[in-house]
Amino acid sequence: MKKLILDLDTGVDDTLAICYALGSPEVELIGITGTYGNVLTKQGVRNALAITDMLGHPEVKVYEGLAHSSTTDDFSVLPISAFIHGDNGIGDVEIEDSERVAEDVPAVDFIIDSVKKYGKDLIYVPTGPQTNLAAAIKKAPEIVDEIGGVVLMGGALTVPGNVSACAEANISQDPEAADFVFRSGIPATMVGLDVTLQTLLTYKDTAVWREKGTYAAGKIADITDYYIKAYETTAPTLHGCGLHDPLAVAVAVDPTLVTCLDINMKVDTEAPTRGRTIGDTDRLNDPVKTMKVAVGVDVPRFLDEFMTRIGNL
Ligand code: BDR
Ligand code: CA
Repeated sequence: MKKLILDLDTGVDDTLAICYALGSPEVELIGITGTYGNVLTKQGVRNALAITDMLGHPEVKVYEGLAHSSTTDDFSVLPISAFIHGDNGIGDVEIEDSERVAEDVPAVDFIIDSVKKYGKDLIYVPTGPQTNLAAAIKKAPEIVDEIGGVVLMGGALTVPGNVSACAEANISQDPEAADFVFRSGIPATMVGLDVTLQTLLTYKDTAVWREKGTYAAGKIADITDYYIKAYETTAPTLHGCGLHDPLAVAVAVDPTLVTCLDINMKVDTEAPTRGRTIGDTDRLNDPVKTMKVAVGVDVPRFLDEFMTRIGNL
């Protein structure tokens, strides 16, 4: 059975990513590593512990990751995050805090130890900045050949970014880390805004969860409604919220949900295009491609899988 680690800046769609993983019988969620972005790392860890408890999965261990990008010691939460995810990251919805705390092992060490233990059976799914993964590769470079794969939510190839004309939020938090990961040779699939903005959830869908009448389903619906409401302001033409992070988990579970291009990816690290994810023209003719980039998604099949798996919880 495939083993998954989710690396989350636990905001709203990260929460839905946890739901997707726990609702998927084909995979085992062996741990969550915490990162920063939608919220600070400590708050994200707290959310991940509370959400896994609420979903009846206190066996999922949570590991605290790095608190800021690899190039600054600035504790950076994007200013827009509170508007989109709420001050607490989960739509300002109150849920019971977990009595558990993060494990003693740092996230970077847990990632390395898990690759050593599970090898090709392990898929790592970062849905925030690439800071933890870059640090793990720097500490144990051999993991790039030993891991089963990485499916990351981040970037945009053919569409505009969501924090600037060319940059997507997760990549923009730590462009150097992302560029390092992309060039490291690790087998990775980028699930970016090109595909995630095609997969939209509406109030009609959250109403279905609420009808279940359980405490957890009601809370997940409330958390998600906050996010849908924010999208009404930031992206009114979409008529729903983007299922960014759960789509990355879905691709880790079933890669046939997306079609991909093989590309030598890089990340611009200089202004004015800092954070832009593009193909490296210098390596255009290199027959060895570094990554897969999702450019198409089977939207009805994914949405169906999404609703079924959330329903499994
Ligand atoms: C990504 O940025 C975060 O705000 C979301 O959780 C998602 O991972 C979308 O650009
Ligand atoms: Ca995220």
